[in-house]
Amino acid sequence: MSHSSVLIAPSILSADMAYLARDLERIHTADLIHFDTMDGHFTKNLTFGPDVLRAVKRVSDIPVDVHMMVSDPDTMADWYVDAGADIITIHLEASVHLNRTIQHLKKRGVRAGVVLNPATPVLLLEDIIEDLDIVLLMSVNPGFGGQSFIPNTLSKIRSLKSLCQAHNVAPLIEVDGGISAANAEEVARAGANVLVAGSAVFSSSDPAAEIVRLRELGSRAYQGVCA
Ligand code: DX5
Ligand code: ZN
Repeated sequence: MSHSSVLIAPSILSADMAYLARDLERIHTADLIHFDTMDGHFTKNLTFGPDVLRAVKRVSDIPVDVHMMVSDPDTMADWYVDAGADIITIHLEASVHLNRTIQHLKKRGVRAGVVLNPATPVLLLEDIIEDLDIVLLMSVNPGFGGQSFIPNTLSKIRSLKSLCQAHNVAPLIEVDGGISAANAEEVARAGANVLVAGSAVFSSSDPAAEIVRLRELGSRAYQGVCA
């Protein structure tokens, strides 16, 4: 699956949980809602779970992209399918039965993908890449919003593109962490077509307009696998 335009996925980790419905309305121009679930074990932070996902699905029609930062995604992924996830990504570092869980998620009708931490090499995807709808490259160490983009991610995006080309597949390539209008173009130029942005979107006085701006910057610069 490839897109000629870049998708913007605001992370509601940066939303005000006391006013979640209001903040979801503020990001009505988004292509995806990025839902960072953390279990306090895989990451030193604990966020929200399936009940909050159900609440999001009640008030928004935008597809939800669940990023599972948990130690046991093989068990917990189903909870998020049941709660209405549209896309689920699980960390390679946490999954014991990656092939089985990816196949299972696809059979259940969600788009499934793998996430790599900053120090995890792209080549570890060699034997799973053909099964993935999406690959998420972390450009910060997972756990918190508002961290700085790790520049080495740009060469990882290019390596991932080469791997995809070698296998003749075109999963979505998503990048997460430290993305703003200052670097959206270079991230898309390297080959990413889904950009997650938490603090950059929610710290803006007009989050909906900031999303449009990020999408324009990214889409102009995007150089995809099939470009
Ligand atoms: C980090 C999360 C990110 C985070 C991004 O663990 O996975 O999705 O919310 O936030 P920013 O855009 O502020 O780096
Ligand atoms: Zn995330």
